[in-house]
Amino acid sequence: MEGGEGTEETPLPLVLTRFQLSEEYGFLLPDPLTELPEPYGPWMEIAHDLPQLIASHQLRSQVHQMPQLSTQHLRGREELHLAHLVLSFITMGYLWQEGEEGTVKVLPQNLAVPFWEVSQALGLPPILSHTDFVLANWRRKNPNRNLDTIISLPGGESLRGFILVTLLVEKAAVPGIKAIVQAICAILQLDEETLHKALQELAEAIGDMSKPPRGHSLPDFHVFPLSWKDNPAMPDGLIYEGVSDEPMAYSGGSAAQSTILHAFDELLGIRHSEESTAFLHRMRDYMPPPHRAFVEEIHRAPSLKQHVLSSGDARLCTAFNRCISALAEFRSYHITIVTKYITVAAAKAKAGQADPGDRAGPSAVKPPSALEAKGTGGSHIFSFLKSVRDTTREGMISA
Ligand code: HEM
Repeated sequence: MEGGEGTEETPLPLVLTRFQLSEEYGFLLPDPLTELPEPYGPWMEIAHDLPQLIASHQLRSQVHQMPQLSTQHLRGREELHLAHLVLSFITMGYLWQEGEEGTVKVLPQNLAVPFWEVSQALGLPPILSHTDFVLANWRRKNPNRNLDTIISLPGGESLRGFILVTLLVEKAAVPGIKAIVQAICAILQLDEETLHKALQELAEAIGDMSKPPRGHSLPDFHVFPLSWKDNPAMPDGLIYEGVSDEPMAYSGGSAAQSTILHAFDELLGIRHSEESTAFLHRMRDYMPPPHRAFVEEIHRAPSLKQHVLSSGDARLCTAFNRCISALAEFRSYHITIVTKYITVAAAKAKAGQADPGDRAGPSAVKPPSALEAKGTGGSHIFSFLKSVRDTTREGMISA
C-alpha cells in the first residue's frame, strides 16, 4: 500500500493488481476458464459428471482407470486454478462417495500427485478450499448470462444456490476492498476528506453484503466439503499416494477462508479472542498467497483506529463506528443463517429426507458429523461465531 507524504500516490488498479485483485471482481477470479487443454480431457469428463458418478457409486472405479497426467502442460494462473478446482472436486467426491463412514485413508497416486503439484504451483493446500468452491468456480450461462457454477457435487439447485450466494457476497464486498486501499492511502496522506468518504463506502459495502440475494434458497446440509483435520470420520488425515507415506491433515472449505472479513478486521483493528484468532489465522493458509499478502499489508499499515482517535474528528469517529456496526450486523445475520441451516439439516436428517435435486445422497442420510457440534474447521460453531461477532462490537470507539 504505497503512498504517504512526499511520495507519489499509487493508482488503485496498480495496488489491486499487485495482490491479484480485480477492480471489478475483487477476490473472485475474473472470468475463470471452464475447460482445460486437450490432454486433460479425462479430468474434465469425470469432473463434469461428478454428481451422477457419485450417485451411481462409480466415481472411485472411474478414478482408478484415469491415466496419471503430467501437470507440465498447464499454462498460467487460469489453467492452474481450473486444474485445482477440478482435482479438488474429484478428490472430495472420491472420498465422499460412500458417505462419511465410508471414507478412505489413501488418495490414489494418479489423482494425488497432479493435485499436489498444482497445489504447490498455486501455493494452495491440496484440498477443496473456498478458492475452489467459490472464487474460481463461476461462469455465465448463455444466452441470458445468468451465473452458474463450473463444477458441482451432489446437491442440485441447493448446492448451486449456496455457492452462488457466497459468490454474490464476494462481489458485494468489492467496493469495500477498494475503500480499504483508499482509506490507507488517505491516512498516509493525512487526507481526512478522502478517509471519511472511504469509510462511508466501506460501511455501505458491508451493509450490502447482508442483503440476501433474491432467487437463492437456503442450502441443504449436504453442501459441506469434508475436512481431514479434526474430523472423527478421518482421524488420521489422508495419505497422498506418491507424495508422502505420512498422512496429511487439512481443513475443509469454509467461507472463513474468504479474504474479505480478514481484510475488514485488520483495517478496523478488531481483536478477536486468542482461540478465534488462532482458527482464523490458520484459515489464511487456505487463501491464495497474494490475497493473504493483502491482509498482511493492511496489518502493517498505520492503525486506522489510532488515526481516527487522535484526529479528534467526530465525523471520522461516526463513520468508523458505522463500519464496526455494519460488520457486527453482518456477523449476526450470518449466525441467523447458520442457525436456520443447522435446524433444517437436523430436521431433515431426522426425517431421513433428501433434496429432490440430489439423487446421490450419502450425506443426505445424515449431516456431516463435523456440523453437528462443530464447524468444518473443528471450531464450536456458535460460541465461535458469537465470540467473533461480540469482539467486533467491542472495536467501537466510545464517545
Ligand atoms: C448456509 C450458509 C452458511 C453456513 C451453514 C455457514 C457456516 C459457517 C460455519 C459453520 C462457520 C464456522 C467456521 C468453520 O467451521 O468453518 C462459518 C464461518 C464463517 N462464514 Fe459461514 N456459513 C454460511 C454462509 C456464509 C456466507 C454466504 C458467507 C459470506 C462470505 C460466510 C462467511 C463466513 C465467515 C467470514 C466465517 C468466519 C467467521 C467470521 O469471520 O465471522 N458464510 N460459517
